[in-house]
Amino acid sequence: MGLEELIKKLDPGKMPRHVAIIMDGNGRWAKKRLMNRVKGHMVGVEVAKKIVELSRKINLPVLSLFAFSMENWRRPKNEIKVLMGLLESYLKNELKNLMEQDIRLYVSGDISMLPEKTRKVVEKVVDATRGNQSMILNLAISYSGRWDIVQAVKRIAEDVKKGVINIDDINDVLFKSYLSTAQLPPPDLLIRTSGEMRISNFFLWDLAYTELYFTPTLWPEFTEEEFIEALLDYQRRERRFGMTTEQVKEVDVSKLIH
Ligand code: FPP
Repeated sequence: MGLEELIKKLDPGKMPRHVAIIMDGNGRWAKKRLMNRVKGHMVGVEVAKKIVELSRKINLPVLSLFAFSMENWRRPKNEIKVLMGLLESYLKNELKNLMEQDIRLYVSGDISMLPEKTRKVVEKVVDATRGNQSMILNLAISYSGRWDIVQAVKRIAEDVKKGVINIDDINDVLFKSYLSTAQLPPPDLLIRTSGEMRISNFFLWDLAYTELYFTPTLWPEFTEEEFIEALLDYQRRERRFGMTTEQVKEVDVSKLIH
């Protein structure tokens, strides 16, 4: 089925508010073709661009892409350099498009670990797109779910010490407000490509009730059609949030997640 036909099958009443993607398999894709891993990442950026554009087209409010994990700092120096370079050129080249499409760039992660040049480009695009309102593109860069939880705990402890909050104020809503994803709804759907069935330290707190979609497709081969197929698959699922089928029919489930 063609892309436009697939898009028409989407139920506007059941659109996810936030889709997160672990874009995995660039290295394996390149290796299969006897090419350098770098080539896989380059094609991966092109796929990411298409998915961002399509997400905007179908009015998805938030798209998160896991672009670089904290564990990725363990990769060979040269691959890290290439990934940083790709991130810089992606942001520089896409700024105009992000403005035209009214997309705001958010970043989750410890960007103080980035090389200064890369960090400056990231900050520039975050600043420039601050007023955009049609969609949020959240790039997880130097991100780890455990890091996020630990930094939240530290800041909560500091605020308790300063008397800004009381220990009894700590609950899941307050906790979320200290995470680097504080401004974002939790993902309704997580897509991971390349056949790996793991969360790999991506959003841990926010994935509590997220629907998971794993596909063997390697990220450089992931298509717009498969993205819509994943959304259609999501729309066919019943989300119960711990309740019974009968109960969920009577409540607005979107109010149950935060
Ligand atoms: C996983 O493939 C991918 C990454 C570690 C980086 C993802 C980055 C991109 C797609 C490019 C940057 C994106 C943007 C939006 C600027 P892998 O190298 O782990 O593949 P493998 O598991 O097959 O080795």
